[in-house]
Amino acid sequence: MMRSPREPLPVTADPGLFEALGGRAAVGLIVDGLYDRLERDQELTRLFRSRRKGERDRLKEFFEGFFGGEVRGIRDVGTQRRHLHRLISAEESARWLAHFGAALDQAGVAAGPQAAVMRLLREAAARLENDGAPLAVLRQAMAAAATGDVDAVAALVADHPRLIDQRAGDGATLVWTAARRGRLPLVRWLTGHGADIEIPGSAVHMTQVAVSPYCIAVRSRHQQVAQYLRDHGAKVDVFGAAFLADLDALRGHIAAGLANAQSPHEDFHPVTPLHHAVDGGSAAAATLLLENGAEARTSGGRLLTSAANQGSVELVRLLLDHGAQARDAESLGPLGADRTIGELLVAHGFDLDVPIRAQETPLTRACRADKGEHPETVRALLELGADPNAPNARGRTALSIAAGARFSRSVALLLAAGAR
Ligand code: HEM
Repeated sequence: MMRSPREPLPVTADPGLFEALGGRAAVGLIVDGLYDRLERDQELTRLFRSRRKGERDRLKEFFEGFFGGEVRGIRDVGTQRRHLHRLISAEESARWLAHFGAALDQAGVAAGPQAAVMRLLREAAARLENDGAPLAVLRQAMAAAATGDVDAVAALVADHPRLIDQRAGDGATLVWTAARRGRLPLVRWLTGHGADIEIPGSAVHMTQVAVSPYCIAVRSRHQQVAQYLRDHGAKVDVFGAAFLADLDALRGHIAAGLANAQSPHEDFHPVTPLHHAVDGGSAAAATLLLENGAEARTSGGRLLTSAANQGSVELVRLLLDHGAQARDAESLGPLGADRTIGELLVAHGFDLDVPIRAQETPLTRACRADKGEHPETVRALLELGADPNAPNARGRTALSIAAGARFSRSVALLLAAGAR
């Protein structure tokens, strides 16, 4: 069973590794070799039978970038977060790793680079173990934890002892869920039964950082639970201090050299205290970090998107001032109500006519039938300078999408702006 990991893993491997392995062609061979094996392995069909479209390509893109080749594709989250929703046993993890080793062999990778790759993957693969109770029981236990039902949780844990630290969607454990809902008796029971009180989870699916049970208790204003966890050893590490804007604690961590620390809960993907400060909505914590050498460029788009989604002009401005690239942002803030963030991003180079994530432009997105009509957003985008005829990645224009959705006010605005 996974316990709170201690040591962060690197975000990318030694750049020399890509060439030593044999470049893009070799990575392609390795991933094909891996997936051929995974899909044939009877013990792993539970996990790999779906043959999702593009899965091999996404894995190739991932490993190319990770091994030090060109970074392609979209990398949002780290290896742990990508796999959290799966129940992976120690045996399955070991089989995956063995297949990777065999694929390296078959691709003719020399012993030195092979050992270097396996060293990196071994630890990361072990951190993906998250089995115990079956999914239905896990869901039932989480529902009971949310309502604070100690008896129900105790009965399920008695039947499935490893439930105690098992992670459900977005990483939440029983303690995390109970802490978020302020269920003190259950938090007490779980702590008393040896639950790991540091395993983080996230309240926001996929897009935001994962935080500890203590952090989520504070953020959810459950002071008693937060105090109880502190009294029982919960730490406020540099990530928690940044998320909660605990500036005194944060200063201490910065003095210890942790301004750019990599989260141990996210393998192979940069997640730093600055991510926590921004996702936590604290301009004060972000400022303190940036003034002390925190780096805003690497994940600038991800950080700007979070700040814009929160509608925080202050954070957006701060990140832009420290080198975050406006063109990488994926949100323009609450445009219909307030254009300040949109104006800032456009002034710093955000291109309104390029589809975000190779999908929708802001304008085609604002016209989508499944999102409801937003004429005030359409108006703001046109006034910010969006080309009414710029197509989305599938070649459709905002006008055809809005007309198809019968959004008459949006259609009128688009026509008035010269849409054809
Ligand atoms: C530590 C090394 C590992 C890395 C770097 C890694 C990376 C990845 C990546 C990049 C994807 C594609 C995800 C996407 O489409 O967004 C993926 C998918 C997946 N991984 Fe891993 N993985 C690792 C280990 C494992 C292990 C040990 C298992 C389980 C035994 C596993 C099970 C899966 C499954 C089931 C999928 C989805 C496959 C599908 O739906 O067809 N991974 N992994």
